Amino acid sequence: MSQNSKEDFTALAYSEQGKKAVYPGSFDPITNGHVDIITRGLKIFGRILIAVLENPVKEPLFTAEERTAMIKEIFSREPRVEVKSFGGLLVDFARNHDARVVIRGLRAVSDFEYEFQMTLMNHKLNPELETLFMMPSIRYTFLSSNMVKEVHRLGGCIRDLVPPIVEAGLDEKKRQAERSIS
Ligand code: PNS
Repeated sequence: MSQNSKEDFTALAYSEQGKKAVYPGSFDPITNGHVDIITRGLKIFGRILIAVLENPVKEPLFTAEERTAMIKEIFSREPRVEVKSFGGLLVDFARNHDARVVIRGLRAVSDFEYEFQMTLMNHKLNPELETLFMMPSIRYTFLSSNMVKEVHRLGGCIRDLVPPIVEAGLDEKKRQAERSIS
């Protein structure tokens, strides 16, 4: 480690930027695994800015507005959490919001390759941006937004897997889909 990078690290840890982290994702929808990472992230960072991706490659079930609104409601009593949607590059979003730390959840080895690539790319685009990986509680390691949607669509119980507002949102989407078929 060069002397410069050591100085940078110390500066980040004690700076305003180092007290704030961006937690980006598709959140289609947010699950209790995400909530767990955010809640534990708040033990480390003074503020967490949740960045909801507007245009994921796959067509999302919930619009960016719906996903953002649900997350805002879930954290409505936590003034240290802010929620915004974003398009474009994550590094630009972080820079525009004066943040230099990104949090990502790592559930299993299968997540690693994608996260590794993304972190290296982000680091190339902005070497000042650091990524911190957090493991969710063991009871959420199997959980993903896609699995929640599938289980719900097929009639399984998702009560322990998502906040109540998300379950209600999924119920509504299912009703809309059923209405459009009949
Ligand atoms: O919840 P996800 O889908 O795993 O989150 C992925 C996300 C939103 C973090 C990632 O797709 C992202 O940062 N997209 C913004 C575009 C970008 O910056 N791409 C370059 C890095 S791969």
